[in-house]
Amino acid sequence: MGFHYMFMTLFFISILGRRLRVDGLGCNWGTRATHPLPPNIVVNLMKVNGFDKVKLFEADPWAMQALGRSGIQVMVGIPNEMLASLASSVRVAEEWVSQNVSYFLSQKGVDIRYVAVGNEPFLKTYQNKFTQVTLPALQNVQAALIKAGLGRDVKATVPLNADVYETGTGLPSGGNFRADIHTLMVSLVKFLSQNGAPLTINIYPFLSLQADPHFPVEYAFFDGSASPLLDGSIAYTNVFEANYDTLVSALEKNGFSSIPIIVGEVGWPSDGDPNANPQMARRFYHGLLNRINQGQGTPKRSTPPDIYLFALTDEDAKSIDPGNFERHWGIFNFDGTIKYPLDLGNGRNLTAAKGVRYLARQWCIMAPDANILDPNLPEKLNFACTYADCTSLGFGSSCGGLDARSNASHAFNAYYQRFNQQKGSCEQFGSLSVVTKIDPGIRDPSCRYEIMIDTGKHELVSNPGTSSGHVMIRGSVVAWWLFMLFLVCL
Ligand SMILES: *[C@@H]1O[C@H](CO)[C@@H](O)[C@H](O)[C@H]1NC(C)=O
Ligand SMILES: *[C@@H]1O[C@H](CO)[C@@H](O)[C@H](O)[C@H]1NC(C)=O
Ligand SMILES: *[C@@H]1O[C@H](CO)[C@@H](O)[C@H](O)[C@H]1NC(C)=O
Repeated sequence: MGFHYMFMTLFFISILGRRLRVDGLGCNWGTRATHPLPPNIVVNLMKVNGFDKVKLFEADPWAMQALGRSGIQVMVGIPNEMLASLASSVRVAEEWVSQNVSYFLSQKGVDIRYVAVGNEPFLKTYQNKFTQVTLPALQNVQAALIKAGLGRDVKATVPLNADVYETGTGLPSGGNFRADIHTLMVSLVKFLSQNGAPLTINIYPFLSLQADPHFPVEYAFFDGSASPLLDGSIAYTNVFEANYDTLVSALEKNGFSSIPIIVGEVGWPSDGDPNANPQMARRFYHGLLNRINQGQGTPKRSTPPDIYLFALTDEDAKSIDPGNFERHWGIFNFDGTIKYPLDLGNGRNLTAAKGVRYLARQWCIMAPDANILDPNLPEKLNFACTYADCTSLGFGSSCGGLDARSNASHAFNAYYQRFNQQKGSCEQFGSLSVVTKIDPGIRDPSCRYEIMIDTGKHELVSNPGTSSGHVMIRGSVVAWWLFMLFLVCL
């Protein structure tokens, strides 16, 4: 038996060794989806793909529990809506820390490293709604962490949008904090720095490209052939580095040259805009991951930041105010399937989610005998797309090239799946629609007619209580047999 144990130990050490090589990769786990993947499947998806850090937008109890003893480090967020009450009293912050940090750390084994207080609270579009409350909320959360004895292990930070700094000269060296919040930013960074906490910043080359029709596309990527931007002796060939160094300059100018920086969000969407497609997303991530795996810093700061990709999966219930692409930031599709092959740095392609259960293989489409000129059709389409996600149908998107009939089918199906293929959801469109078992997307794989996740089935398997213990026992039995097989193969 001792012999077996020795082999088992070696076996696990070798697995561990393989894991360690891909450390330093983080991702954002957003849950604004009509059919979110079950948390245990998401956690497995992160693990098999080598993500060892995750950022959550709030302390969702299901997500937090699934992260318990997973080996994944967690940055847990606080929504902007809670900032005012957290700012108003330390008691509220203590309650929050007790329920959402201490509990999960000590009772559930969640490796919480950071609390993200608010999410991009100084965005110009919020029109100062959160500028007064963010710093007091941060101070109260920090005080509560210290009081709970977590001051050393858990750091409070604030994920900020890159528009909290700007450059007057057009060059990174001219970087400084945005004029209207300059004093606030200095106080905030000073507070972070005094507490040994990092500054967290979200940087989006895609949005830079979107915002400016004259933006050189090549400059958005890392392997681009853009003519470099010269800043003294430094030549910048991509906007990520230039943007990041603008922040570094802003920090240096205000006396914070050594505060650690975390990139809280960075990514590229794959649909919903002519600049958002799998080819461009893949190109962006390919360059970004190369940098991460080589531990590459920027000209002004050689230490690489921790980086959280945005995002792990698509979220079909996100607001599309910024644009249709907003629902397509995932490296994976909503169901954890692969959008494009990508080497995460361990020589392996992305691995899809396992164990996902779907609704029946059936779709709601436009009836073959329905008239495309039916006067009711526009209103029905509008109805379908008000409740379901039609962001793939727009100009330059994955299903933007469909003819009017297929376009209608796609919208009907989106509605039908959104409402779990319930009886009556296809009938909603009267004689215009019909259910089919033939995949309407069979001829064009780039335009997907989704079948939704069966959330009902997943709820049954992942109910709390006795069942999870049962699964664990089964899992370890399987592991044991695999191990025996391994010995036999030796
Ligand atoms: C813990 O976090 C959740 C999710 O954001 C929130 O709904 C809840 O109110 C928080 N608990 C406390 C005591 O603030
Ligand atoms: C990754 O996936 C692509 C496309 O599916 C395939 O062509 C390639 O061979 C795969 N690479 C590895 C290392 O598995
Ligand atoms: C496709 O459907 C969308 C959403 O209902 C609609 O706005 C658009 O006009 C349709 N396009 C065509 C070509 O019918």
